Amino acid sequence: DTVAVVLAGGRGTRLYPASSPETPKQFRAVGGERSLLERTVARAERFADEVVVLTRPAYADRVRGLVDAEVFVEPEPKDTGPALVYAAHRLRGRAETLVCLPSDHHVGDDAAFATAAERAAATARETGGLVTMGVEPTRPATGYGYLKPGEARGEGVNRVEAFVEKPDAETAARYREAGYRWNAGIFAWTPAALLRACEGTPLEPLVDALDAGDPEPFAACEAVSVDYGVMEDAEDVYLVAVSSAWDDLGTWDALARVLDADESGTVVDGNALPVDAEGCVLATDEGSHVAAVGVSDLVVAAYEGRVLVVPKAESQRVREVWDAVYGEE
Ligand code: GDD
Ligand code: MG
Repeated sequence: DTVAVVLAGGRGTRLYPASSPETPKQFRAVGGERSLLERTVARAERFADEVVVLTRPAYADRVRGLVDAEVFVEPEPKDTGPALVYAAHRLRGRAETLVCLPSDHHVGDDAAFATAAERAAATARETGGLVTMGVEPTRPATGYGYLKPGEARGEGVNRVEAFVEKPDAETAARYREAGYRWNAGIFAWTPAALLRACEGTPLEPLVDALDAGDPEPFAACEAVSVDYGVMEDAEDVYLVAVSSAWDDLGTWDALARVLDADESGTVVDGNALPVDAEGCVLATDEGSHVAAVGVSDLVVAAYEGRVLVVPKAESQRVREVWDAVYGEE
């Protein structure tokens, strides 16, 4: 059967102040009615026999309070590579196929997404390879991985000839013209396939430590994302095309792409009053309210007494705020 593994251990620093150390973005209703985590679990329930949420110790109770799913607590937050290896190791012998999905995504069409996820799971079973979902790029984004499609394997399925994580802007523009796809960061594999693919990577010591029953297996490995740690150098990688609208709600400008705008191109998520505000993103929690008058292309976000103002085009720079406000962790 298929188990969905939902990644919910990130901090979401670029979505400050909707993200804080206590309440990262996956627990907030950003861009929708329910929290990102609840929306992700509901999406996964459409195609998976079981849903497991994978998170860091500090967020485990939060997750249990929000969703009715089994919770795996990784011993230490060390990015997605160790987390996904840990999940695969625990699910070996229990799940035939894993579909691993982040909890910070907007998906326009959950039914189309479920069809693609089922196809990805089937491809993972049939090939014994690593499968990732590919989205058609709409701009030269630098925050995503890029996949070079190779030989077709069936409807909407191709081999991947190259996987490049987060290229610079020039390279991203070139890849987009050359027909590359974005890596949606949604992976399907059998537990054995992922563990095998770790051989010769920075994650191999973790697999060995888990096999040996080491009480502190995460001490054996460095922090690394699955994209840099495994996918970039893996052989036997396939992509399954996703046709639904898709976005990573990683930065505030993403809300401008996924929510309906008013006639001035401003989007509101929460309680806000735009007056001649053009092309803005105004976002709040339940207890806050913002008014924006005669301004353009700004993000104004207010959560729990903290207010962020940033030009929409500089949304990536919000990462500069976190350490100054909360200190480095
Ligand atoms: N359990 C756990 N533990 N989850 C984590 C950890 C961790 O240590 N670190 C991050 N996550 C979760 C985040 O909460 C998020 O849901 C997901 O893993 C992905 O992490 P991001 O930090 O958002 O990755 P990204 O957006 O920079 O890049 C990835 O996704 C892009 C598409 O959205 C890569 O896969 C890119 O190649 C891809 O294009
Ligand atoms: Mg992300």
